[in-house]
Amino acid sequence: MNLTLKIWRQAGPRAQGEMVTYPVTDISEDMSFLEMLDVLNEQLNARGEEPIAFDSDCREGICGMCGLMISGQAHGPEVTTTCQLHMRSFKDGDEITVEPWRADAFPVIKDLVVDRSSFDRIIQAGGFISANTGSAPEAHSVPVPKPKADRSFMAAACIGCGACVAACPNASGMLFMGAKITHLGELPQGQPERDARVVSMVSTHDHEGFGGCTNVGACADACPKEIPLDVINQLNKDLRRALMHGE
Ligand code: SF4
Ligand code: FES
Repeated sequence: MNLTLKIWRQAGPRAQGEMVTYPVTDISEDMSFLEMLDVLNEQLNARGEEPIAFDSDCREGICGMCGLMISGQAHGPEVTTTCQLHMRSFKDGDEITVEPWRADAFPVIKDLVVDRSSFDRIIQAGGFISANTGSAPEAHSVPVPKPKADRSFMAAACIGCGACVAACPNASGMLFMGAKITHLGELPQGQPERDARVVSMVSTHDHEGFGGCTNVGACADACPKEIPLDVINQLNKDLRRALMHGE
């Protein structure tokens, strides 16, 4: 395939950015989207031009590093991560726009790379348990009902990619935060700090510049791990409960 890419170039955090058009040739439909960008960068290097900066790590849909806004959709046209998106989702001659996540809480560092450390600070505010777990306990010593274990496991699948924020017109981080609240809140180990956790995480979320949820639902549609909207209900219920307890 031969494609035309319109890619956001920005030399640094304070530089003025712009969309730049690049033709890219000899793309196989079996390549991933990131491999296609690798080919473009080799072609730019061969011409003595500055390669495009973008993030990736595992390239297996696990680490959450690789998010891009592709033709206006977070992670592109499939429900998957950018690294697991394949070029067979496009056709020869397509024009594709590639932009970084757009959110005040995710400032651009360079080109397509954004700073998502605001997510780390939300986790630092409450995404943990501080109970001393000691050595590994006997597996059945803390019974967890199967529906709760399943729901916790579902929420724990969030990889912190930030697509939910990028897709949301309010740049809200509520789906991400709801996933973390649900993951810990369904388990016995998550109960002692449950009230303090939600208050601290929501306060950090708002302080970092994420917007509020207005029930648009674009976050869940864009989520590569199919985290459902009802984790936001869980978050709101936990917050109401914590405030009633005087937290
Ligand atoms: S909730 Fe989904 S879209 Fe949001 S950070 Fe987690 S995995 Fe990514
Ligand atoms: S590079 Fe790790 S999820 Fe895409």
